[in-house]
Parts: sequence; structure tokens; C-alpha cells
Amino acid sequence: MGEVSIRLDDLPLRDHLRGMTPYGAPQAALPVALNVNENTHPVPQDVADDILDAVALALRDVNRYPDREFTALREGFAEYLGYGVTREQIWAANGSNEVLQHVLQAFGGPGRTAFGFAPTYSMYPLLTRATGAEWIAGTRGPDFSVEVDDATRQVEEAAPDVVFLCSPNNPTGTPMSLEAIAAIYDATDGIVVVDEAYQEFAPHDAGSALALLPGRERMVVSRTMSKAFAFAGARVGYLAADPALIDALRLVRLPYHLSALTQAAASAALRHSHTMLAMVDEIVAQRDRMSATLDAIGYDPYESWTNFVLFGGVDDPAATWQGLYDHGVLIRDVGIPHHLRVTAGTEQETTAFLDALASLDSSS
Ligand SMILES: Cc1ncc(COP(=O)(O)O)c(C=O)c1O
Repeated sequence: MGEVSIRLDDLPLRDHLRGMTPYGAPQAALPVALNVNENTHPVPQDVADDILDAVALALRDVNRYPDREFTALREGFAEYLGYGVTREQIWAANGSNEVLQHVLQAFGGPGRTAFGFAPTYSMYPLLTRATGAEWIAGTRGPDFSVEVDDATRQVEEAAPDVVFLCSPNNPTGTPMSLEAIAAIYDATDGIVVVDEAYQEFAPHDAGSALALLPGRERMVVSRTMSKAFAFAGARVGYLAADPALIDALRLVRLPYHLSALTQAAASAALRHSHTMLAMVDEIVAQRDRMSATLDAIGYDPYESWTNFVLFGGVDDPAATWQGLYDHGVLIRDVGIPHHLRVTAGTEQETTAFLDALASLDSSS
């Protein structure tokens, strides 16, 4: 029992899934985990208490299906986002991964294509192919920037059904201008998804693509509570778009996909958005300290508007990754030659990473 009796390839798997590898950031219980861009600060106790009360209340009715339209939660997200976004423009699911999956289920699928400027979030190709669509990888300019003329030319040439613009981008941390986003929208008839998973870590005066939504009914701006809100374990992501586009997503979601407990927890957390986001400035300070120190010790960190830093100048990323691992520090080898990515931690975690890296350098 439990033994593997047949190989994956021997199963009548859908052709599109053959040869794919599942999402697989290494999971290891190390003292300092800076590998998946989590918020390493726990939810403050008073907020946690309020969330517990809300979940306890929801449990009383858990014999019933939840509100299929998660009305209170959509109201909360609309209020939090601002920019005149209304409840009718909001969609949510179990993490922004599921939100993006809904978009692809509605607008991707067999015979269609989705496009993104590589390197970008590793789940886009996986989610795309899982719906039977093809993934097209575009390219970036120097320093992983996206330059308007080059970007619009690539999008016109590829003529995709869905375009993913990750801004700021994972795994590079680099921003994309609103001008570029607007120009790319004009260069395609497809759906344009602006993934703002890390937007809260951008400079305070940086505009959001939410400002571009009016009059652009094929545009989607997705967000998550996993990063700035320190809510990764609760699995809550959301997007804003035209109400007609939201109707399209209703066609593909499972009935009652957001549990009553998730809705209650997320709504309660949103009521405390100010406190939940209080750590953002501290994380940004640690990110900038990381970048400055990496630069000072001879690496090449990229400008980051996120809670992580991509740095180049690593002779042997696998060896550095292992050396840090042996010091109890987990970071991410994202597969870009001579680069590694590290999440900004608490002050102590950030120090542990920087000290471990410096000790590797001095011993090599
Ligand atoms: C760019 C980007 N989008 C979306 C996600 C998915 O986040 P979640 O499903 O936790 O909301 C991530 C997670 O790392 C990400 O980096």
C-alpha cells in the first residue's frame, strides 16, 4: 500500500500536462525562511483576536453554504482599494493564484495563448497550460525593464488572448510604468491582467493600475492578502475589473468557492487594514538595507518595489544557496544564471541572512 505502481507518463494524462512539473518551491523548516516572499511578521495579537471572534461567529452558521457572492468581503475590498472601485467590480478567491486561474478558465483554454515578459511569476505558464492554452514568453530589456516600444511590438506580434503584466515583477522586483501598461493594453484585443501582488511595497507615490481601469473593460488588476497583509496561510486573493468581466468569472468558479470561515477572517482582517499594513514600512526598510549591503559586499541587487531582492553577481548560485541553507537560511534559486532571490525579513532575519552570506564570502 502507498507504493508507486505506475509512472505518471503511463496514465491517460491530458497531452497538455505531459512533461510539466508542479510548482515546487523547496519547503524546509529552517530558522530563517526567506524563500517565498511571505510577510515574516505575524498578524498582530489584537487583530488575531478579532479575526478569531469573527470566525467563531461564522462557525455558528457553518451548517449552511456561505454567501456565494461574498458581498461583505467585496464591499471591504472595494473600500480598501479606493480609486472609485465599487463592489460590483470585485472578485475574490482562495489566493490570487485561484483568481488568475479563474481568468484563464474564462479567457484561456484550448487553442488560445497567454503572454508574459520573462522572467516573471512562475505560476503564469503553469496556470495557462493547465487550461489547455499555450504560454508565450516575451523578453525584457537591460535590468529586466519593460520598454514601451519593444513591449508593444512583442504583444502585437504575439496577439495573445491574455497578457500578464506583473508589476512590480516577481522574481525581479522591478516596476513597470503606467504608461507602458496603457500602451500594452492598446496593443492587444486580449485581456490584460496587471498582477499587483506586491503593490503595497512600492513607493507611496507610485500609482496603481487601478487608475487605468475606467474605460478599459478588458483590464484586470489583481491583488493578494498574502504579502503586505501577512495573510498567506488564509489564502485570499482578489481582483478589480469591469462588472461584465466579473460575470465571466462567475461562469467558471465552483459554487461557494470561498468558505464562510475564509470570508469572515478576511473581512475582519480588512477592518484592521491599517494595523495589518503597519509592518510594510519596516519591511521596506529591511529590503533597502539588504540591497545596500548586497551592493556594498560586491553583488548586484536590482531596484525593488517589492518585499524581496533579486541580486546578480553570484558565481555559483547552487553553492551559495546550499551554503546559506547550511547556516539555517532558506532563500530562492529562481533559475536565472548567477542570480538569487531573497525575501526581506524581520530585522533579525535580515541580519542573519546578510551575516551568513558575508561568512560564505570570507570562507571562499
Ligand atoms: C506575482 C505573484 N502573483 C500572485 C501570487 C500568488 O499569491 P497568492 O496565491 O498567495 O495570493 C504570488 C505569490 O508569490 C506572486 O508572486
